[in-house]
Formats: sequence, C-alpha cells, structure tokens
Amino acid sequence: MNAFSVVLPLLLLLMCEPRRISSQEMRRVKMTLVQNASSIGAYCLDGSLPAYHFDGGSGAGASNWLLQFEGGGWCNDLKSCLDRAATHRGSTRLMSKVEVFSGILSNNASLNPDFYNWNRVKLRYCDGASFGGDAVFDNGTSLLYFRGQRIWQAIILDLLPKGLGQAKKALLSGCSAGGLATFLHCDDLTTYLPENASVKCLSDAGLFLDARDVAMNHSMRYFYKSVVTLQGVEKNLNKNCTSSGYHELCFFPQYALPYIKTPYFILNTAYDVYQFHHILVPTAADPNGHWYHCKLSPKVCNEVQIATLQGFRRYMLETLQPFYTNSTSGGMFINSCFAHCQSESQDTWLAPDSPRVDNKTIAEAVGDWYFSIRISKEIDCEYPCDNSCHNQIN
Ligand SMILES: *[C@@H]1O[C@H](CO)[C@@H](O)[C@H](O)[C@H]1NC(C)=O
Ligand SMILES: *[C@@H]1O[C@H](CO)[C@@H](O)[C@H](O)[C@H]1NC(C)=O
Ligand SMILES: *[C@@H]1O[C@H](CO)[C@@H](O)[C@H](O)[C@H]1NC(C)=O
Ligand SMILES: *[C@@H]1O[C@H](CO)[C@@H](O)[C@H](O)[C@H]1NC(C)=O
Ligand SMILES: *[C@@H]1O[C@H](CO)[C@@H](O)[C@H](O)[C@H]1NC(C)=O
Ligand SMILES: *[C@@H]1O[C@H](CO)[C@@H](O)[C@H](O)[C@H]1NC(C)=O
Ligand SMILES: *[C@@H]1O[C@H](CO)[C@@H](O)[C@H](O)[C@H]1NC(C)=O
Ligand SMILES: *[C@@H]1O[C@H](CO)[C@@H](O)[C@H](O)[C@H]1NC(C)=O
Repeated sequence: MNAFSVVLPLLLLLMCEPRRISSQEMRRVKMTLVQNASSIGAYCLDGSLPAYHFDGGSGAGASNWLLQFEGGGWCNDLKSCLDRAATHRGSTRLMSKVEVFSGILSNNASLNPDFYNWNRVKLRYCDGASFGGDAVFDNGTSLLYFRGQRIWQAIILDLLPKGLGQAKKALLSGCSAGGLATFLHCDDLTTYLPENASVKCLSDAGLFLDARDVAMNHSMRYFYKSVVTLQGVEKNLNKNCTSSGYHELCFFPQYALPYIKTPYFILNTAYDVYQFHHILVPTAADPNGHWYHCKLSPKVCNEVQIATLQGFRRYMLETLQPFYTNSTSGGMFINSCFAHCQSESQDTWLAPDSPRVDNKTIAEAVGDWYFSIRISKEIDCEYPCDNSCHNQIN
C-alpha cells in the first residue's frame, strides 16, 4: 500500500508551476520554524521542528487570516513512515525553505481578488496523517513521532500572538491530504479565535471517499484504518461522529461532515485523479493493467470504464446529498475535470481560461461564498461535457 504515500511527480510538477506567471511576479515566502514546538512535544516524523510560511496581510485584509494546510499523501506502517521521515514529507530539515505563494495564496489582487491582502500562512506537512495523529514509535533502534495534532496546535499557538488571536475573518483551507486536514480541525480553529470572528473552511481535493475499488474491495478503508491505528488519530476525530458508531471511519470526510458546525466549501473534481488512481483503481485491483491507458487519458477509456467513472461521480454526489440539501452556509464546486487540487495553482484558481461551472471560476465561487455574496452549490454536468477543464493527463 506504499503507493498511497507516493504522490505522482506529474501532479507535483503541475501544482508547483503555475502557467503564464513569470518568476519575477511570483511571491516567494520564507519558512519559519516553530522553535517553541518542543514545549508541547510537537515534532515532524523524524524529530525535526514543525514549520510554516507566513506572508503578512495589509489594508482591509490586515485582520484576516488564510491558513492553508500543505498536502502530500499519508504513511500507514512503520516502513512507509520511516521512509517518509527521510524525505521532505517527514522532515522540515529536508524541505524547501522558500515556497511560492500562488492561486489562493497569491498576494496579487488581480490573481486572487478576495484573499490577496489577508495574512496568508502555509502549514508544512511533515507528520503523514493529515495533522491528526498523536503517538510515538520507539523500539530502541527506530524512533518516529506521530504528532500531527500537536503540530497543528503548536503552529496555531505560535500565530496567535502574531495577530491570529485578534482575527476578524479566517479561512482554513488545504489541498489533498491538507484538504482532509481541514475536516479534522475546522471546528477546533474556532475555539482559538475571538467568538465574533467569522471562521469558515475550504476543502480542495480532500473529499476522499470510502468507495470500493474495481475489485469490489474497500481498499481505501483498510488504508485509512491503518493510518488511524498506527498514528493514534482516532482520539482526535470528531467526537460526535465517532460516538455515533463510525469510529475510525470518521477520518473520511463523508462521515464527519454532518457533525461539523463551521461553514464549509467543498471543492473537488468528480474524477479526482488521485482517487481514480488510488481508490477506484489501485494497482492491486487491476493486476492485468486493463486500466493502464485509461488512467493516462480518459479519452481512451472504453465504455465500461467510463460507466465505472460515472458511477464514482454518482457516489461522490450521493455522499454530498445531505450537505447539498441541508447546509445553508455551505458552498460547493464539483467540476467534471480529471485533476487533483485546483486552489493552489493559478491556472485553475483564476485565469482567463481557468475551469468554470455556470461560467464561474473557482476563485469567484469561493470568494462569493466566503463573503456571503452568493452561496452557490455548483455541480458540473458529467464528463466529457466540460471544455474548460485543465485535465492533467491526456
Ligand atoms: C499581478 O498580476 C497581473 C496579471 O498577471 C500582472 O499583470 C501584474 O504585473 C501583477 N502585479 C504584480 C505587482 O506582480
Ligand atoms: C512556549 O511554550 C510555553 C509552554 O507552552 C509557554 O509557556 C511559553 O509562553 C511559550 N513561549 C513562546 C515564546 O511562545
Ligand atoms: C525497530 O523497528 C524497526 C522498524 O520496524 C525494525 O527495522 C527494527 O529491527 C526494530 N528494532 C528492534 C530492536 O526491534
Ligand atoms: C469583536 O469584538 C471585539 C470587542 O468588542 C471588537 O473589537 C472586534 O472588532 C469585533 N470583531 C468583529 C469581527 O466584529
Ligand atoms: C483488499 O485490500 C487490502 C488492502 O489493500 C488487501 O490487503 C487485500 O488483499 C485486498 N483484497 C482483495 C480480495 O483484493
Ligand atoms: C455534538 O454533540 C454535542 C454534545 O452532545 C451537542 O451539543 C452538539 O450539538 C453536537 N454537534 C453536532 C454538530 O451534532
Ligand atoms: C436534512 O435534514 C433533515 C432534518 O435533520 C433530515 O431529516 C433529512 O434526512 C436531511 N436530508 C438529507 C438529504 O440528508
Ligand atoms: C462569462 O463570464 C465572463 C466574465 O467572467 C463574461 O465576459 C462572459 O460574457 C460570460 N459568459 C456567459 C455566457 O455568460
């Protein structure tokens, strides 16, 4: 199952290199190590200090805070976590010390009209359990810190005196494993901020589904169970959810979402390529490689494969049905692209040809929802109707 912890290099490339924006215009932001994190035992997998990148707000945004969790898969057993601890996904020592802030993190008003002048923070991901674990493995020769929950706390405690403690508005967002982290911490964030602050949360490509794979196996359920067990995540999951009988399944957003009180925006593609490749058709479920070409390009999928993908889309919409029907403060944007993460890169967040549903860009839909200008729940027609997609693989 180590495939889950390996993020496709292609995805990373596409996430890190927004098109058309020349390097001079891109905002580069330095890393801040949380020196005081050791006082609460908050360490990355390898024992290094956690970190974030902070770009200060100005003008009308000076009291507003955007907190963005970094993503990057999970580790679910000692081997995959030891491997990860020796990479930039498990150690701030090995991470880039400067990050480009683009898309929702951009400081340019024409590229990010609603959040450009906010305080913007990228929380680096180094625990391997979506900032959710609390355990340690130590057998005398190997030592691993599973301290995601404490890393979250340490970063927030560090930011409170820097202005977060007096925030007027806040948006907790994240993409992929970072999108999943928003579900784990959304309500918790409100407890640190003034009672009258407006706090909302955005999951980008974080709606990982408890779906069966093409071999009818619940492989993602097994995988998440092993992450939750190894890293001691269950005690940090939404209590109303776990006590309703879902237990460790509350790591899946679809079970936790009904118990979250804070206003949410769900941004996801119906054919999320990470979920397609790792939940719907993990390699183990397709030993003969029937899906090999279809995974590389939806254009060459056969009828049965397209029907399977449409089934996955229907399942995603079914799990969102209660949210769609009952949430008055919630927004959504489920487009029919083959992509994974659309808020961090400029070309999908807001650009002349960025993806649209009902002629709305993602930046418009999220901004209008945040400021309660127009709360829309956008669901795209099914593939291949949408010609505004930037499909990652074709
Ligand atoms: C902001 O982005 C626009 C559009 O890409 C660009 O023309 C402009 O130079 C940028 N402004 C700054 C200050 O980088
Ligand atoms: C560091 O953490 C300790 C214990 O939580 C706390 O008392 C202290 O104020 C913190 N110092 C800074 C500079 O944040
Ligand atoms: C500790 O655990 C690691 C990882 O499972 C293993 O390789 C190593 O042999 C163990 N050491 C001892 C002393 O059991
Ligand atoms: C919240 O209340 C405090 C104290 O009354 C006030 O200073 C602050 O401006 C209020 N914030 C918002 C967002 O209304
Ligand atoms: C189902 O998935 C689990 C976890 O990947 C795996 O261990 C198991 O062998 C799979 N079972 C079948 C029948 O494919
Ligand atoms: C969670 O449970 C508490 C205590 O039972 C209750 O007060 C609260 O309304 C519940 N929240 C949700 C969102 O169900
Ligand atoms: C919406 O909420 C009501 C009342 O809580 C509930 O009875 C109904 O089943 C919910 N609708 C959906 C689609 O979940
Ligand atoms: C779509 O929105 C753009 C501006 O964002 C506008 O120029 C265009 O006319 C709109 N198209 C339709 C069909 O409404």
